[in-house]
Amino acid sequence: MGDFAFPAFTLAKTMRKAPQMIAQELSADPRLSDDVMKAQNAGPYVNFFIDKGYLAKETLGEILDKGERYGEDNIGEGKNIIVEFSSPNIAKPFHVGHAFTTIIGNSLSKIYSKLGYNVIRMNHLGDYGTQFGKLITAWRLWGDEKKLEEAPIDELLRIYVKFHQEEKNDPKLTEDARENFKKLEEGCEDEVRLWKKFRDDSLVVFDKLYKRMNIEFDNYNGESYYSKMGDDVVKLLKEKDLLTESEGAQVVMLDEYNLPPCIIIKSDGTTIYATRDLAAAIYRYDKYKFDKNIYVVGIPQALHFKQVFSVLKKAGFDYADNCVHVGFGLVKFKNMKFSTRDGNIVLLEELLDEAVKKTREIIVENAKTRGQEMSEEEINEISEKVGLGAVIYTYVKSGRERDIVFSWDEMLDFNGDTAPYMIYTYARTRSILRKASDNGISYEDADLSKLTDEDEYAVIRSLADFKDSVKKAAESNEPFMVARQVALIARNFNRFYNNSSILNADDEEIRKSRLALCEACCDTVKSGLNLLGIDVVERM
Ligand code: ARG
Repeated sequence: MGDFAFPAFTLAKTMRKAPQMIAQELSADPRLSDDVMKAQNAGPYVNFFIDKGYLAKETLGEILDKGERYGEDNIGEGKNIIVEFSSPNIAKPFHVGHAFTTIIGNSLSKIYSKLGYNVIRMNHLGDYGTQFGKLITAWRLWGDEKKLEEAPIDELLRIYVKFHQEEKNDPKLTEDARENFKKLEEGCEDEVRLWKKFRDDSLVVFDKLYKRMNIEFDNYNGESYYSKMGDDVVKLLKEKDLLTESEGAQVVMLDEYNLPPCIIIKSDGTTIYATRDLAAAIYRYDKYKFDKNIYVVGIPQALHFKQVFSVLKKAGFDYADNCVHVGFGLVKFKNMKFSTRDGNIVLLEELLDEAVKKTREIIVENAKTRGQEMSEEEINEISEKVGLGAVIYTYVKSGRERDIVFSWDEMLDFNGDTAPYMIYTYARTRSILRKASDNGISYEDADLSKLTDEDEYAVIRSLADFKDSVKKAAESNEPFMVARQVALIARNFNRFYNNSSILNADDEEIRKSRLALCEACCDTVKSGLNLLGIDVVERM
């Protein structure tokens, strides 16, 4: 019932008293009430009532002072956090599943940075493994230089698929591929050259996507980078007497963790995915002494990470406890058709292009109804930002472990829980602020404590809670905590906007203070969306 509440149940066990009694005693304690906050008892709760004028003045004062920096904190000062995300596989299409890790990871990086952490953004490329032997074989037989240049991933995928078809009738191909991978591992010139070419060409495609989405990495140290350290891992595990032979392979037993053994060396002598992840974790700690080492990778790899972290722990590396697998769900589509060659895979690029196209239609239509003049260039820019925003928001609007269902109607609903709605809200605040400045109205020396009516309070309260939402998002590695808060601010602001006059308010003082509220929403919505990786536009 109050502005804040404390449930006394949480103390019942420690204090060996009924919650009602605890709540009653606490509420009567004079230290819990003062001029701005009053405690009041209601059953097993202590309810707190805040002086609304005070909250308005404090909150808005801080936002107007900090602008888009509102929400920043220094709890992360001096601490390194590694966020590993995106990590696509070379020579494979960048599909909507990779977009999940890319978007969540990008957002987490921004959230941690905002809290003062030093964030290292790592792209753990899938750029190593036996499949590269197959690609080299396939390339020598069927590769087309020109096609590779035009559309590298399409061409690499084409020959890779062909390899698997032909392999069924020609066992020599399998043999040849194995040979080539061995040569690659040994550093033979031509095999390394081809591998590097495939890697570089694939990266051009990935980089185009990252650039479009405004996403950057500090490094692209992928599996190949750590494969060189595989021998050291094996040596270390041997020294600690952790390796056991099992069906020709070398494994670490993990019975005490209730996990299946972790394979370190296969029976053919080669190291595997897990070995490279062990090397990577050790390298990361040696280099960065990380406070946390976060892996944004799909839930299907949960067991793999449990095994890797347990091997580290068993080897005596206590930083294993600071390694975190941040999983996410599946991506599904409702009534959406794409022109993909293979019905199962939807490329991120296709999804983005289609979203931008559909957004464009709406923007053009809206502009027509409103009689708004917009240049082709402006329409394109707005559609790109809003369309991308609509896709990104769909990934971050719910808890990350839930599956996502894309639907055009939902994600492009300008009145729904969507990026277009929030970007529109931002544009609305900008338009009010522009109009104010054209008419010489400023919020300087506005009496912020006047903002106490119900709608104003709702906006202010949601703005005040924004700071906490950023911290909670970091604690649980859940960007949706920020998404939900920005959505709440936008809803509350629009209700306030619909029910109250801002620039047309009769009273000059009210005009000023409401304008200040508008500025605070503008800054917070913008920085909140930015934490999610969503860009805003000045009008739409
Ligand atoms: N490349 C892998 C994939 O696409 C993800 C890599 C995850 N990161 C890791 N350190 N194993 O499935």
